[in-house]
Amino acid sequence: MSYYIINGGHRLEGAVSVGGAKNAALAIIPAAILCGEPCVIENLPYIDDVRVMTELLSQIGAKTEFSSNGVLCIDPSGINNVCVTFDMVNSLRASYYLLGALLGRYGHAEVSFPGGCPIGQRPIDQHIKGFKALGAEVEIENGIVKAKADKLVGSEIYLDIASVGATINIMLAAARADGITIINNAAKEPYIVDVANFLNMMGASVKGAGTDIIRINGRKQLHGCNYAIIPDQMEAGTFMIAAAATGGDVIINNVIPAHLDAISAKLMETGATVREGNDGRDFYVRVSSSRRLRSVNIKTLPYPGFPTDLQQPMMALLSTAEGTSLVMETMFEERFNHVNGLNRMGANISVSSRTALVQGVKRLMGAQLQVTDLRAGAALVIAAMMADGKSKVENIHYIDRGYEHFEHKLCGLGADIVRLG
Ligand code: EPZ
Repeated sequence: MSYYIINGGHRLEGAVSVGGAKNAALAIIPAAILCGEPCVIENLPYIDDVRVMTELLSQIGAKTEFSSNGVLCIDPSGINNVCVTFDMVNSLRASYYLLGALLGRYGHAEVSFPGGCPIGQRPIDQHIKGFKALGAEVEIENGIVKAKADKLVGSEIYLDIASVGATINIMLAAARADGITIINNAAKEPYIVDVANFLNMMGASVKGAGTDIIRINGRKQLHGCNYAIIPDQMEAGTFMIAAAATGGDVIINNVIPAHLDAISAKLMETGATVREGNDGRDFYVRVSSSRRLRSVNIKTLPYPGFPTDLQQPMMALLSTAEGTSLVMETMFEERFNHVNGLNRMGANISVSSRTALVQGVKRLMGAQLQVTDLRAGAALVIAAMMADGKSKVENIHYIDRGYEHFEHKLCGLGADIVRLG
Protein backbone atom coordinates (compact mmCIF):
# COMPACT_ATOMS: atom_id res chain seq x y z
CA MET A 1 0.00 0.00 0.00
CA SER A 2 1.35 3.46 -0.92
CA TYR A 3 2.34 5.94 1.73
CA TYR A 4 3.84 9.44 1.98
CA ILE A 5 7.11 10.40 3.62
CA ILE A 6 6.89 14.09 4.55
CA ASN A 7 9.65 16.23 6.05
CA GLY A 8 7.97 19.17 7.71
CA GLY A 9 9.03 22.78 8.30
CA HIS A 10 8.78 24.04 4.72
CA ARG A 11 6.66 27.12 3.93
CA LEU A 12 4.36 26.56 0.93
CA GLU A 13 5.02 29.20 -1.73
CA GLY A 14 4.02 29.72 -5.35
CA ALA A 15 0.87 29.00 -7.37
CA VAL A 16 -1.40 25.99 -7.75
CA SER A 17 -4.45 25.37 -9.94
CA VAL A 18 -7.62 23.77 -8.64
CA GLY A 19 -9.31 20.89 -10.49
CA GLY A 20 -12.99 20.17 -11.07
CA ALA A 21 -15.32 19.65 -8.11
CA LYS A 22 -15.42 16.00 -7.02
CA ASN A 23 -18.91 16.22 -5.53
CA ALA A 24 -20.33 17.83 -8.67
CA ALA A 25 -18.57 15.34 -10.96
CA LEU A 26 -19.89 12.31 -9.05
CA ALA A 27 -23.46 13.49 -9.63
CA ILE A 28 -23.12 14.83 -13.19
CA ILE A 29 -21.54 11.67 -14.63
CA PRO A 30 -24.54 9.43 -13.66
CA ALA A 31 -26.93 12.27 -14.58
CA ALA A 32 -25.88 11.78 -18.23
CA ILE A 33 -27.86 8.51 -18.13
CA LEU A 34 -31.07 10.58 -18.16
CA CYS A 35 -30.63 11.82 -21.75
CA GLY A 36 -29.60 8.52 -23.33
CA GLU A 37 -27.39 10.38 -25.81
CA PRO A 38 -23.62 11.07 -25.99
CA CYS A 39 -22.34 13.78 -23.62
CA VAL A 40 -18.91 15.35 -23.18
CA ILE A 41 -18.05 16.41 -19.62
CA GLU A 42 -14.92 18.53 -19.13
CA ASN A 43 -12.80 19.71 -16.18
CA LEU A 44 -13.37 16.43 -14.32
CA PRO A 45 -10.86 15.83 -11.50
CA TYR A 46 -8.49 12.95 -12.26
CA ILE A 47 -9.30 11.06 -9.03
CA ASP A 48 -10.18 7.49 -8.09
CA ASP A 49 -13.83 8.23 -7.28
CA VAL A 50 -14.40 9.59 -10.80
CA ARG A 51 -12.69 6.55 -12.31
CA VAL A 52 -14.84 4.21 -10.20
CA MET A 53 -18.07 6.03 -11.15
CA THR A 54 -17.08 5.90 -14.83
CA GLU A 55 -16.28 2.18 -14.52
CA LEU A 56 -19.71 1.54 -12.91
CA LEU A 57 -21.44 3.11 -15.92
CA SER A 58 -19.41 1.09 -18.39
CA GLN A 59 -20.21 -2.09 -16.42
CA ILE A 60 -23.94 -1.54 -17.10
CA GLY A 61 -23.41 -0.87 -20.82
CA ALA A 62 -22.53 2.79 -21.27
CA LYS A 63 -19.58 3.63 -23.56
CA THR A 64 -17.09 5.79 -21.63
CA GLU A 65 -13.72 7.31 -22.49
CA PHE A 66 -12.03 9.22 -19.66
CA SER A 67 -8.75 10.96 -20.53
CA SER A 68 -6.12 12.21 -18.06
CA ASN A 69 -6.88 15.80 -19.11
CA GLY A 70 -10.22 15.47 -17.31
CA VAL A 71 -12.48 15.00 -20.33
CA LEU A 72 -15.09 12.23 -20.25
CA CYS A 73 -16.96 11.19 -23.39
CA ILE A 74 -19.96 9.13 -22.32
CA ASP A 75 -22.62 7.45 -24.46
CA PRO A 76 -25.32 5.96 -22.19
CA SER A 77 -27.51 4.78 -25.09
CA GLY A 78 -26.20 1.23 -24.75
CA ILE A 79 -27.09 0.76 -21.08
CA ASN A 80 -28.62 -2.70 -20.76
CA ASN A 81 -28.67 -3.29 -17.00
CA VAL A 82 -30.21 -1.33 -14.13
CA CYS A 83 -28.67 -3.50 -11.41
CA VAL A 84 -25.48 -1.96 -10.03
CA THR A 85 -24.45 -4.38 -7.34
CA PHE A 86 -20.72 -4.67 -7.95
CA ASP A 87 -18.27 -4.69 -5.03
CA MET A 88 -16.84 -1.35 -6.08
CA VAL A 89 -20.14 0.30 -5.15
CA ASN A 90 -19.29 -0.25 -1.50
CA SER A 91 -16.43 2.26 -1.56
CA LEU A 92 -18.34 4.98 -3.34
CA ARG A 93 -20.95 7.00 -1.43
CA ALA A 94 -22.03 8.77 -4.63
CA SER A 95 -23.12 5.47 -6.21
CA TYR A 96 -26.56 6.35 -4.82
CA TYR A 97 -26.95 8.85 -7.70
CA LEU A 98 -27.34 5.84 -10.00
CA LEU A 99 -30.67 5.23 -8.25
CA GLY A 100 -32.11 8.62 -9.25
CA ALA A 101 -30.64 8.51 -12.77
CA LEU A 102 -31.69 4.93 -13.62
CA LEU A 103 -35.11 5.41 -12.00
CA GLY A 104 -35.60 8.61 -13.95
CA ARG A 105 -34.66 7.05 -17.30
CA TYR A 106 -35.90 3.43 -16.97
CA GLY A 107 -38.36 3.45 -14.04
CA HIS A 108 -36.23 0.81 -12.34
CA ALA A 109 -32.95 0.76 -10.40
CA GLU A 110 -31.19 -1.69 -8.09
CA VAL A 111 -28.04 -0.36 -6.42
CA SER A 112 -26.06 -1.77 -3.49
CA PHE A 113 -26.45 0.29 -0.35
CA PRO A 114 -23.79 3.04 -0.70
CA GLY A 115 -20.52 3.00 1.23
CA GLY A 116 -18.14 5.94 1.45
CA CYS A 117 -15.88 7.55 4.06
CA PRO A 118 -16.51 6.25 7.63
CA ILE A 119 -17.67 9.57 9.10
CA GLY A 120 -21.05 8.49 10.45
CA GLN A 121 -24.15 6.43 9.68
CA ARG A 122 -24.92 8.22 6.42
CA PRO A 123 -28.49 6.92 5.94
CA ILE A 124 -30.42 7.52 2.71
CA ASP A 125 -33.94 7.78 4.15
CA GLN A 126 -34.46 11.23 2.60
CA HIS A 127 -33.50 9.92 -0.84
CA ILE A 128 -36.05 7.10 -0.44
CA LYS A 129 -38.68 9.53 0.86
CA GLY A 130 -38.25 11.57 -2.33
CA PHE A 131 -38.44 8.59 -4.69
CA LYS A 132 -41.61 7.34 -2.95
CA ALA A 133 -43.17 10.80 -3.22
CA LEU A 134 -42.60 10.57 -7.00
CA GLY A 135 -44.53 7.30 -7.08
CA ALA A 136 -41.73 4.73 -6.87
CA GLU A 137 -41.85 1.61 -4.76
CA VAL A 138 -38.60 1.35 -2.81
CA GLU A 139 -37.34 -1.49 -0.66
CA ILE A 140 -33.98 -2.59 0.71
CA GLU A 141 -33.29 -6.29 0.33
CA ASN A 142 -29.98 -7.98 1.24
CA GLY A 143 -28.16 -4.65 1.19
CA ILE A 144 -29.55 -3.66 -2.20
CA VAL A 145 -31.82 -0.64 -2.67
CA LYS A 146 -34.52 -1.55 -5.20
CA ALA A 147 -36.65 1.22 -6.71
CA LYS A 148 -39.40 0.74 -9.29
CA ALA A 149 -42.09 2.97 -10.81
CA ASP A 150 -44.49 2.39 -13.72
CA LYS A 151 -44.58 6.15 -14.00
CA LEU A 152 -42.88 8.91 -12.01
CA VAL A 153 -45.25 11.79 -11.21
CA GLY A 154 -44.12 15.20 -9.96
CA SER A 155 -44.82 15.91 -6.29
CA GLU A 156 -44.08 18.39 -3.48
CA ILE A 157 -41.38 17.09 -1.12
CA TYR A 158 -40.20 18.56 2.18
CA LEU A 159 -36.75 17.29 3.19
CA ASP A 160 -36.31 16.73 6.94
CA ILE A 161 -32.60 17.54 6.46
CA ALA A 162 -31.08 19.80 3.79
CA SER A 163 -29.27 16.77 2.40
CA VAL A 164 -26.93 17.34 -0.56
CA GLY A 165 -27.30 13.78 -1.82
CA ALA A 166 -31.05 13.60 -1.41
CA THR A 167 -31.57 16.99 -3.09
CA ILE A 168 -29.54 15.93 -6.13
CA ASN A 169 -30.98 12.41 -6.31
CA ILE A 170 -34.57 13.69 -6.28
CA MET A 171 -33.66 16.29 -8.95
CA LEU A 172 -32.35 13.48 -11.16
CA ALA A 173 -35.49 11.33 -10.88
CA ALA A 174 -37.82 14.36 -11.15
CA ALA A 175 -36.11 15.60 -14.34
CA ARG A 176 -37.95 12.88 -16.30
CA ALA A 177 -41.13 12.66 -14.16
CA ASP A 178 -44.56 13.75 -15.35
CA GLY A 179 -45.38 17.22 -14.07
CA ILE A 180 -43.83 19.51 -11.47
CA THR A 181 -41.74 18.53 -8.46
CA ILE A 182 -40.96 21.00 -5.69
CA ILE A 183 -38.15 20.22 -3.25
CA ASN A 184 -38.50 22.23 -0.02
CA ASN A 185 -35.59 22.59 2.44
CA ALA A 186 -33.23 21.72 -0.42
CA ALA A 187 -29.45 21.83 0.07
CA LYS A 188 -27.80 24.92 -1.49
CA GLU A 189 -24.22 23.74 -2.07
CA PRO A 190 -22.52 24.95 -5.29
CA TYR A 191 -22.57 21.40 -6.66
CA ILE A 192 -26.38 21.43 -6.52
CA VAL A 193 -26.34 24.43 -8.88
CA ASP A 194 -23.78 22.71 -11.11
CA VAL A 195 -25.94 19.58 -11.42
CA ALA A 196 -29.02 21.72 -12.14
CA ASN A 197 -27.10 23.59 -14.85
CA PHE A 198 -26.05 20.30 -16.42
CA LEU A 199 -29.65 19.01 -16.37
CA ASN A 200 -30.85 22.25 -17.98
CA MET A 201 -28.14 21.91 -20.65
CA MET A 202 -29.72 18.52 -21.43
CA GLY A 203 -33.09 20.24 -21.88
CA ALA A 204 -34.47 19.73 -18.38
CA SER A 205 -36.31 22.48 -16.50
CA VAL A 206 -34.79 23.01 -13.05
CA LYS A 207 -35.28 26.35 -11.34
CA GLY A 208 -34.21 27.66 -7.92
CA ALA A 209 -31.08 25.53 -7.44
CA GLY A 210 -28.90 27.26 -4.86
CA THR A 211 -31.95 28.28 -2.84
CA ASP A 212 -33.92 26.09 -0.43
CA ILE A 213 -36.82 25.63 -2.87
CA ILE A 214 -36.10 23.89 -6.18
CA ARG A 215 -38.79 23.47 -8.86
CA ILE A 216 -38.38 20.81 -11.53
CA ASN A 217 -40.74 20.55 -14.50
CA GLY A 218 -40.25 17.00 -15.79
CA ARG A 219 -39.45 16.41 -19.47
CA LYS A 220 -40.31 13.35 -21.55
CA GLN A 221 -37.04 13.54 -23.45
CA LEU A 222 -33.62 15.04 -22.78
CA HIS A 223 -30.69 15.41 -25.18
CA GLY A 224 -26.90 15.12 -25.03
CA CYS A 225 -24.68 18.12 -24.27
CA ASN A 226 -21.17 19.35 -23.55
CA TYR A 227 -20.50 20.65 -20.05
CA ALA A 228 -17.58 21.79 -17.85
CA ILE A 229 -17.61 21.12 -14.09
CA ILE A 230 -17.10 23.97 -11.60
CA PRO A 231 -13.79 24.21 -9.68
CA ASP A 232 -13.55 22.23 -6.44
CA GLN A 233 -14.18 24.49 -3.44
CA MET A 234 -12.85 21.82 -1.04
CA GLU A 235 -9.58 21.37 -2.91
CA ALA A 236 -9.20 25.15 -3.03
CA GLY A 237 -10.00 25.43 0.68
CA THR A 238 -7.52 22.67 1.53
CA PHE A 239 -4.69 24.53 -0.23
CA MET A 240 -5.75 27.82 1.41
CA ILE A 241 -5.53 26.20 4.84
CA ALA A 242 -2.20 24.52 4.00
CA ALA A 243 -0.73 27.87 2.90
CA ALA A 244 -1.75 29.60 6.14
CA ALA A 245 -0.81 26.62 8.34
CA THR A 246 2.78 26.50 6.99
CA GLY A 247 3.30 30.27 7.20
CA GLY A 248 3.43 30.33 3.41
CA ASP A 249 2.26 32.54 0.55
CA VAL A 250 0.24 30.71 -2.12
CA ILE A 251 -1.90 31.76 -5.08
CA ILE A 252 -4.73 29.30 -5.71
CA ASN A 253 -5.90 29.66 -9.33
CA ASN A 254 -9.15 28.67 -11.06
CA VAL A 255 -11.53 29.28 -8.16
CA ILE A 256 -14.98 30.81 -7.71
CA PRO A 257 -14.26 33.20 -4.80
CA ALA A 258 -17.90 33.33 -3.66
CA HIS A 259 -17.76 29.58 -2.94
CA LEU A 260 -14.84 30.22 -0.57
CA ASP A 261 -16.32 33.05 1.52
CA ALA A 262 -16.72 30.99 4.70
CA ILE A 263 -13.17 29.61 4.65
CA SER A 264 -11.67 32.98 3.62
CA ALA A 265 -13.43 34.73 6.51
CA LYS A 266 -12.35 32.11 9.03
CA LEU A 267 -8.70 32.21 7.86
CA MET A 268 -8.69 36.01 8.16
CA GLU A 269 -10.06 35.60 11.71
CA THR A 270 -6.95 33.53 12.54
CA GLY A 271 -4.74 36.41 11.31
CA ALA A 272 -3.89 35.02 7.86
CA THR A 273 -4.11 37.34 4.85
CA VAL A 274 -6.59 36.37 2.10
CA ARG A 275 -6.83 38.39 -1.11
CA GLU A 276 -9.03 37.69 -4.15
CA GLY A 277 -8.03 38.65 -7.68
CA ASN A 278 -8.44 38.01 -11.40
CA ASP A 279 -5.49 37.52 -13.72
CA GLY A 280 -7.61 38.36 -16.75
CA ARG A 281 -8.44 34.69 -17.33
CA ASP A 282 -9.07 33.08 -13.95
CA PHE A 283 -10.15 34.16 -10.50
CA TYR A 284 -7.66 33.36 -7.76
CA VAL A 285 -7.27 33.68 -4.02
CA ARG A 286 -3.90 34.43 -2.43
CA VAL A 287 -3.32 33.23 1.12
CA SER A 288 -0.33 34.13 3.27
CA SER A 289 0.62 34.24 6.93
CA SER A 290 3.81 35.35 8.58
CA ARG A 291 3.07 35.03 12.29
CA ARG A 292 1.63 32.52 14.73
CA LEU A 293 -2.09 32.26 13.94
CA ARG A 294 -4.85 32.92 16.45
CA SER A 295 -7.31 30.27 17.68
CA VAL A 296 -10.89 30.55 16.38
CA ASN A 297 -14.17 28.69 16.88
CA ILE A 298 -15.65 26.60 14.06
CA LYS A 299 -19.20 25.34 13.64
CA THR A 300 -19.84 23.30 10.49
CA LEU A 301 -23.08 24.14 8.68
CA PRO A 302 -24.72 23.57 5.29
CA TYR A 303 -23.61 26.02 2.57
CA PRO A 304 -22.97 28.95 2.83
CA GLY A 305 -21.81 28.09 6.38
CA PHE A 306 -18.37 26.68 7.19
CA PRO A 307 -18.13 23.42 5.20
CA THR A 308 -17.86 20.14 7.08
CA ASP A 309 -15.33 18.91 4.47
CA LEU A 310 -12.83 21.56 5.63
CA GLN A 311 -13.32 21.01 9.38
CA GLN A 312 -10.60 18.38 9.49
CA PRO A 313 -7.91 20.30 7.54
CA MET A 314 -8.74 23.42 9.60
CA MET A 315 -8.23 21.52 12.84
CA ALA A 316 -4.65 20.75 11.78
CA LEU A 317 -4.04 24.49 11.40
CA LEU A 318 -5.66 25.23 14.78
CA SER A 319 -3.52 22.64 16.58
CA THR A 320 -0.61 25.15 16.76
CA ALA A 321 -2.67 28.37 16.86
CA GLU A 322 -2.32 30.64 19.91
CA GLY A 323 -5.12 29.93 22.39
CA THR A 324 -7.99 27.44 22.48
CA SER A 325 -10.38 26.70 19.62
CA LEU A 326 -13.80 25.06 19.83
CA VAL A 327 -14.75 22.93 16.80
CA MET A 328 -18.38 21.82 16.52
CA GLU A 329 -19.15 19.23 13.81
CA THR A 330 -22.91 19.46 13.26
CA MET A 331 -23.14 17.53 9.96
CA PHE A 332 -21.67 14.10 10.73
CA GLU A 333 -21.51 12.18 13.99
CA GLU A 334 -18.01 10.67 13.54
CA ARG A 335 -15.88 13.21 11.73
CA PHE A 336 -13.03 13.48 14.27
CA ASN A 337 -11.03 10.40 13.18
CA HIS A 338 -8.01 12.63 12.46
CA VAL A 339 -7.72 13.78 16.12
CA ASN A 340 -5.85 10.64 17.15
CA GLY A 341 -3.15 11.31 14.55
CA LEU A 342 -2.85 14.99 15.47
CA ASN A 343 -2.46 14.11 19.16
CA ARG A 344 0.24 11.57 18.25
CA MET A 345 2.10 14.56 16.77
CA GLY A 346 1.87 16.48 20.05
CA ALA A 347 -1.40 18.32 19.54
CA ASN A 348 -3.64 18.82 22.58
CA ILE A 349 -7.19 18.04 21.42
CA SER A 350 -10.01 16.55 23.46
CA VAL A 351 -13.31 15.37 21.95
CA SER A 352 -16.72 15.11 23.53
CA SER A 353 -19.51 13.92 21.20
CA ARG A 354 -19.56 16.35 18.26
CA THR A 355 -17.30 18.98 19.84
CA ALA A 356 -13.49 19.14 19.89
CA LEU A 357 -11.47 21.42 22.18
CA VAL A 358 -8.16 22.34 20.49
CA GLN A 359 -5.60 23.86 22.83
CA GLY A 360 -2.87 25.30 20.62
CA VAL A 361 0.66 23.93 21.19
CA LYS A 362 3.89 25.57 20.03
CA ARG A 363 5.03 22.83 17.64
CA LEU A 364 3.96 19.48 16.22
CA MET A 365 6.45 16.62 15.84
CA GLY A 366 6.53 14.22 12.90
CA ALA A 367 5.04 10.75 13.52
CA GLN A 368 3.73 7.58 11.84
CA LEU A 369 0.14 8.34 10.85
CA GLN A 370 -2.82 6.32 9.54
CA VAL A 371 -5.38 7.98 7.26
CA THR A 372 -8.99 6.93 7.99
CA ASP A 373 -10.97 9.01 5.47
CA LEU A 374 -10.47 11.52 2.67
CA ARG A 375 -10.44 14.80 4.56
CA ALA A 376 -8.68 13.29 7.59
CA GLY A 377 -5.93 12.47 5.09
CA ALA A 378 -5.69 16.11 4.03
CA ALA A 379 -5.57 17.16 7.68
CA LEU A 380 -2.71 14.78 8.51
CA VAL A 381 -0.70 15.82 5.45
CA ILE A 382 -1.08 19.49 6.43
CA ALA A 383 -0.04 18.66 10.01
CA ALA A 384 2.99 16.70 8.74
CA MET A 385 4.04 19.69 6.60
CA MET A 386 3.71 21.95 9.68
CA ALA A 387 5.60 19.58 12.00
CA ASP A 388 9.27 19.36 12.92
CA GLY A 389 10.85 16.22 11.51
CA LYS A 390 9.66 13.34 9.40
CA SER A 391 6.21 11.77 9.15
CA LYS A 392 5.02 8.61 7.44
CA VAL A 393 1.39 8.89 6.29
CA GLU A 394 -0.22 5.53 5.46
CA ASN A 395 -3.52 4.47 3.80
CA ILE A 396 -3.23 7.36 1.33
CA HIS A 397 -5.65 5.60 -1.06
CA TYR A 398 -8.31 7.58 0.82
CA ILE A 399 -6.59 10.78 -0.37
CA ASP A 400 -6.38 9.49 -3.95
CA ARG A 401 -10.19 9.26 -3.95
CA GLY A 402 -10.67 13.03 -3.80
CA TYR A 403 -7.48 15.02 -4.44
CA GLU A 404 -5.95 14.88 -7.94
CA HIS A 405 -2.12 14.80 -8.16
CA PHE A 406 -2.01 15.82 -4.48
CA GLU A 407 1.68 15.24 -3.78
CA HIS A 408 2.70 16.74 -7.15
CA LYS A 409 0.78 19.93 -6.44
CA LEU A 410 2.26 20.15 -2.93
CA CYS A 411 5.81 19.50 -4.23
CA GLY A 412 5.23 22.32 -6.71
CA LEU A 413 4.65 24.59 -3.72
CA GLY A 414 7.87 23.55 -2.00
CA ALA A 415 6.64 20.74 0.25
CA ASP A 416 9.06 17.89 0.94
CA ILE A 417 6.70 14.96 0.23
CA VAL A 418 7.28 11.69 -1.65
CA ARG A 419 4.94 8.78 -2.42
CA LEU A 420 6.48 5.35 -1.79
CA GLY A 421 5.30 1.74 -1.69
C1 EPZ B 1 -22.19 15.04 0.41
O1 EPZ B 1 -22.40 13.88 1.19
C2 EPZ B 1 -20.71 15.04 0.07
N1 EPZ B 1 -20.39 13.82 -0.67
C3 EPZ B 1 -19.88 15.07 1.36
O2 EPZ B 1 -18.52 15.19 0.97
C4 EPZ B 1 -20.26 16.32 2.15
O3 EPZ B 1 -19.56 16.30 3.37
C5 EPZ B 1 -21.76 16.33 2.41
O4 EPZ B 1 -22.48 16.23 1.16
C6 EPZ B 1 -22.22 17.60 3.11
O5 EPZ B 1 -21.86 18.71 2.36
C7 EPZ B 1 -20.70 13.75 -1.98
O6 EPZ B 1 -21.25 14.68 -2.55
C8 EPZ B 1 -20.32 12.49 -2.70
P1 EPZ B 1 -25.74 14.87 3.10
P2 EPZ B 1 -23.91 13.38 1.50
O7 EPZ B 1 -26.76 13.99 2.51
O8 EPZ B 1 -24.76 13.63 0.31
C9 EPZ B 1 -27.76 13.07 6.97
C10 EPZ B 1 -16.23 14.67 0.97
O9 EPZ B 1 -15.37 14.68 1.86
N2 EPZ B 1 -28.66 12.39 6.02
O10 EPZ B 1 -25.84 16.35 2.90
O11 EPZ B 1 -23.83 12.04 2.08
C11 EPZ B 1 -26.34 12.52 6.88
O12 EPZ B 1 -26.19 11.39 7.69
C12 EPZ B 1 -17.61 14.11 1.29
O13 EPZ B 1 -16.08 15.12 -0.20
C13 EPZ B 1 -29.76 11.69 6.52
O14 EPZ B 1 -29.98 11.63 7.73
O15 EPZ B 1 -24.28 14.42 2.65
C14 EPZ B 1 -25.51 13.68 7.38
O16 EPZ B 1 -25.50 13.65 8.78
C15 EPZ B 1 -17.73 13.62 2.72
N3 EPZ B 1 -30.59 11.08 5.63
C16 EPZ B 1 -26.29 14.90 6.91
O17 EPZ B 1 -27.61 14.44 6.59
C17 EPZ B 1 -30.38 11.12 4.29
O18 EPZ B 1 -31.19 10.54 3.54
C18 EPZ B 1 -25.73 15.56 5.65
O19 EPZ B 1 -25.65 14.54 4.67
C19 EPZ B 1 -29.26 11.83 3.80
C20 EPZ B 1 -28.41 12.46 4.68
